[in-house]
Amino acid sequence: MQAACRRFIGLDERARRGWQKRRVEKCLKCGHAPPRAMLARSGVQILGGDVKRFLAYAAAFLAVLVIAPVAVATPPAGPGAPGSGDPYFPLAGNGGYDVQHYGLRLTYTPGQRHLAGATRITAVATQDLSQFDLDLRGFAVTAVLVDGRPATFWRSGQELVVAPVGSIADGAPFRVTVLYAGTPKVIIDPDGAIEGWVPTSDGAFVVGEPQGTPGWFACSDSPRDKATYDISVSVPRGLTVMANGVLVSRTRTTHRTIWNWREADPMATYLATATLGRFDLARSSVDGVPSYVAVDKTLGHRAVLSKLPAMVRYYSSIFGPYPFDAVGAIVDHAPRVGYALETQTKPVFDSMPDELTLAHELAHQWYGDSVTLTQWPDIWLHEGFATWAEWIWREHTGGISAHLAFTRLYATPASKKSLWAIPPADPGTPAELFGDGPYERGAMTLQALREKVGDGAFFTIMRSWAQAHKYGNVTTPEFIALAEQVSGADLGAFFQTWLYTPGKPSAW
Ligand code: TRP
Ligand code: ZN
Repeated sequence: MQAACRRFIGLDERARRGWQKRRVEKCLKCGHAPPRAMLARSGVQILGGDVKRFLAYAAAFLAVLVIAPVAVATPPAGPGAPGSGDPYFPLAGNGGYDVQHYGLRLTYTPGQRHLAGATRITAVATQDLSQFDLDLRGFAVTAVLVDGRPATFWRSGQELVVAPVGSIADGAPFRVTVLYAGTPKVIIDPDGAIEGWVPTSDGAFVVGEPQGTPGWFACSDSPRDKATYDISVSVPRGLTVMANGVLVSRTRTTHRTIWNWREADPMATYLATATLGRFDLARSSVDGVPSYVAVDKTLGHRAVLSKLPAMVRYYSSIFGPYPFDAVGAIVDHAPRVGYALETQTKPVFDSMPDELTLAHELAHQWYGDSVTLTQWPDIWLHEGFATWAEWIWREHTGGISAHLAFTRLYATPASKKSLWAIPPADPGTPAELFGDGPYERGAMTLQALREKVGDGAFFTIMRSWAQAHKYGNVTTPEFIALAEQVSGADLGAFFQTWLYTPGKPSAW
């Protein structure tokens, strides 16, 4: 059961949930003994040098947890871990605290590509903290305050290390303010894609999956540490800023406009946006939920966007109620980027989407944004679901059925590596996160499940998954357990074949 142990919850997660005072003998998800080499193995392969520091922290942490369980009742205040132990991005996220809220105040001037920001974080300590990390890439940091008092800070790669004047007690709420400025630098992913604060001809296209968000504000960049947001952005007059949630206010001065957005539901950092440019903004509502659709002024032919309300209604009917308090879309002209992202409440598109791409990003609001992976190797729980959602939308609207979509893909020869070599729930490397394994074979897995258990059980599984884990974080073994519980079938071999075994499935 190698696969189950890859889902061993990292040290940070146990600390976050207040389990650090108990001796941890087994994986909290799969029941296996903690694979001590896990962090080391995955880290060394992916990040090389960076990982040494992470391992030092992890080892110190392990020593406290495992070797001296008696002493941890009153541990001395120590540093929070610099990462959340994700197998693909070990330094993303941070340990020792849990973020509740981000208050972002940004000023951007596209002509100079200059971003000045203040990040105000409200957090709760999950251990006695002498110092802690935030994630921030680039910029000059001019000050860090903890509860209003200037703190010592330094940079180390993507880590912004903060040492407050006194330590912070386990369970105590605290506030951090980070003041920073500079020219945002675009982040290049393991697969070569770009993300972060990406300049466009009239503004910026702002995306963070999987690791671009520290490219525009200081954060704990783990999909597990969801928080609410106030996002306030000042831009030259004439530009529109589109961020998550509802538009609270818009203030004009002689030369600038300040846009204030509020995301009141829990949101993972990678889903934050503040995409801006010369947009036409259309406000309306869909069954009482405020809708904001922004389109770059240079783009024509917007007819596809009129399908959004019908898509929201259809997906609500099969997946359960729409999970957020705003809907919409941000359609930019960002040819450098080459993909769309399911930014929470308002997906962002690099060009006018086709109907299925619009459906895909909307479906992510249920699967990805509300119900979010715990670790990045489980990306199929987002992409397989959103791709299958495209198929069921097409079936619903009189196009080819999801069954036929499956059949056509299944006809792909076994020799086609891009489709068959990568098992959806074990992509192996972060460069495969957005490949055909998690997307296409992931969607095929759901359609194969549908045909195995029947529509009644299948749609109950889809709906229960969205409901039971609303605003939460999930793992593949949890999905398998739910599917077995709802259907009453033993699906172990089925999922082993479809999700974890390289090569084209031949029987299931
Ligand atoms: N999650 C996006 C989608 O499928 C795509 C995406 C986000 C992506 N980040 C990426 C694709 C980086 C390639 C590279 O809707
Ligand atoms: Zn997707």
